[in-house]
Amino acid sequence: MSTKIILDCDPGHDDAVAMLLAAGSPEIELLGITTVGGNHTIDKVTHNAQVVATIAGIDATIYPGATRPLVRAVEVAEDIHGDTGMEIHNFELPEPTKQVSDTHAVDFIIDTIMNNEPGTVALVPTGPLTNIALAVRKEPRIAERVKEVVLMGGGYHEGNWTAVAEFNIKIDPEAAHIVFNEKWPLTMVGLDLTHQALATPEVEAKIAVLGTHTADFVVALFAAFRKNYQDAQGFENPPVHDPCAVAYLIDNSVFTTRKAPLDVELTGALTTGMTVADFRSPAPADCTTQVAVKLDFDKFWNLVINAVERIG
Ligand code: BDR
Ligand code: CA
Repeated sequence: MSTKIILDCDPGHDDAVAMLLAAGSPEIELLGITTVGGNHTIDKVTHNAQVVATIAGIDATIYPGATRPLVRAVEVAEDIHGDTGMEIHNFELPEPTKQVSDTHAVDFIIDTIMNNEPGTVALVPTGPLTNIALAVRKEPRIAERVKEVVLMGGGYHEGNWTAVAEFNIKIDPEAAHIVFNEKWPLTMVGLDLTHQALATPEVEAKIAVLGTHTADFVVALFAAFRKNYQDAQGFENPPVHDPCAVAYLIDNSVFTTRKAPLDVELTGALTTGMTVADFRSPAPADCTTQVAVKLDFDKFWNLVINAVERIG
């Protein structure tokens, strides 16, 4: 039995890998790809999603979504993703042959969850949470019908956009606040986890040896991502955040989790966009949220490598 997911993303080097992992894994049924302004503007990230889908022959339809955060101004991550949102060298990106839908991402999310059996569709957001917040405000019943939300964002010890806030949450904290305060099962795959998912030279070599066009694309993505992460944040190897959320839906044992009530800081002078996990025990009986803690590095990368190999 495969798990039905909607991937809500802002490609983005690591979002691109999340798309490949979802599309190349038989355990996942990718119902659709929705885009959201984040790593770059909605036009650029949607174009990048089309490019990735063209390279990898991904069938799932792409639905463009929110152009800006609910309250705050647009802010993009050019230091990490470049001025295209998916900077790459030594690989020629194709003109996309993949078209996008006229249906807005938010309507696709609502219609898909409402038209599938309750408890069967998982949401996997890997960008700012604007689309998800708009969807649950427009149709609150999706909160009780969705299987679960597994999102890349936040962290309980680390920040990257500020000292304590992670990019996806910091860009649209009001949207994150809405999403974290719904009573749906939610797994926060934050920086504490994703900073373990490093694309080391050994990982890159295992992908390079596949020798396919998609593998060449991933290797070039990692090279550009590595350079930007070295320059901007002093990482030796880039953390490939977003596929960690998809990986959990393929194999729950890819990381350990810990139950904890979660919330998002909206008004802190220094802490806006910080995710706060309450680790006091015992966790309340009605707690529906958990955080990702410890990654099984080999298991994770094997899932990614196998998916890239299957795509060909
Ligand atoms: C997150 O921010 C983006 O730059 C990445 O795509 C990832 O989703 C990491 O903080
Ligand atoms: Ca992302």
